[in-house]
Amino acid sequence: MKGGKALKGEVVISGAKNAVLPIIVGALLAEDICTINDVPDLADVATISEVLEGLGVKVSRNGSTMLVDSRHIDNITAPYEYIQKMRASVLIMGPLLARKGQAKISMPGGCGIGTRPIDLHLKGLEALGARISLEHGDIDAKVDGRLKGARIYLDFPSVGATENIMMAAVLAEGVTVLENAAEEPEIVDLANFLNSMGAKVRGAGTSVIKIEGVDSLSKAVHTVIPDRIEAGTYLIAAAITGGDVLLKNVIIDHIKPVIAKLGECGIDVIEEDNNLRVISNGQFKAVDIKTLPYPGFPTDMQAQFMALMAVANGISVFNETVFENRFMQADELRRMGANIKVDGRNAIIEGVEKLTGCQVKASDLRAGAALVIAGLVAEGETEITGLQHLDRGYENLVEKFTAIGADIRRVTD
Ligand code: UD1
Repeated sequence: MKGGKALKGEVVISGAKNAVLPIIVGALLAEDICTINDVPDLADVATISEVLEGLGVKVSRNGSTMLVDSRHIDNITAPYEYIQKMRASVLIMGPLLARKGQAKISMPGGCGIGTRPIDLHLKGLEALGARISLEHGDIDAKVDGRLKGARIYLDFPSVGATENIMMAAVLAEGVTVLENAAEEPEIVDLANFLNSMGAKVRGAGTSVIKIEGVDSLSKAVHTVIPDRIEAGTYLIAAAITGGDVLLKNVIIDHIKPVIAKLGECGIDVIEEDNNLRVISNGQFKAVDIKTLPYPGFPTDMQAQFMALMAVANGISVFNETVFENRFMQADELRRMGANIKVDGRNAIIEGVEKLTGCQVKASDLRAGAALVIAGLVAEGETEITGLQHLDRGYENLVEKFTAIGADIRRVTD
């Protein structure tokens, strides 16, 4: 890609990756066929579909609509290769336990952004009555009869643990109260989907979720919420290039923390119904960022914001409180001329006049997005490798950027 073009035009935001993955898994709970609309075409969606197919579930896709037929489940195991490839595969535990009384997954190892344990998932499932054992690297969870509702307090509002426990509890006997639950919009979308299947979930989107178990769940039709992280990524891309871009299909409330930070930098984001327009003159000042669970500033936007701050006027301090090792983009941005110092969970970014293009490597999804953003303003050519990470979470990235005037192309698959 070559930097220097101000982005102009419209981008339609796709369905949210982090909403669709648990929703597809949630369809395991229905003894029927579920229809999911606005499913983005992403590598992670393909992976989770394969995980379900491995369980005997039929998954089919027509454009952005997906049908998940979970009438027959004949396997309760997710193989190692899938858990390693995509951590969200651990979400099958809750639904499988609830429906089949057993689930077996391999214990996830480390990943690019930290150790990421699943202790909170397991504690919650145990509280619902599951017996959990670890043998030869596999986690085996079993319950005799039905899971039983319980009061569960999460030590940290983990998104995945909230989802896993919620999906187990919808078919449990009695009431589950989940305290210090994650409040992310994706949790609300999953709860809405489960409720349209006949579940009784109340309070999703707050820190206390109450779930009254039901005997069975049936088919549902659901449209996935727009991807707030994809939207935030294009906002920053427009802002850094001094562009004028209209984002269509957004839920503005979900993006407030990013809009607020851009405002603090001096970049105006105009809000209208389901659209956002950013008009930037390419000048912005440095601001500090602290990542937090929703509604705080999202950790999934931290890398992209770092690319913006790399060319801001002044010095910014980043504090990453959600993940322990999530500044992988810093080394690569430095290769492009950025002035960034990382110390544990903190980073100091001193804005520079310009970045210069070079060969860089995407180490994970959002780090990859940060490099694309940097490449949009870097002098000369930037060559990004590790595109498989970007394919996990950005639908038609090259096409969408090309349509708003970026000089970007994909050289290999
Ligand atoms: C989800 C998102 C991911 C996002 C993250 C935080 C999906 C598919 N992925 O990941 O994009 O960055 O939320 O917004 O939705 N933790 C534990 N024990 C647990 C679970 C988590 O210690 O049992 C820790 C993690 O190591 C991490 C923190 O809690 O430090 C947040 O993790 P969590 O909210 O669970 O993130 P994910 O659900 O994995």
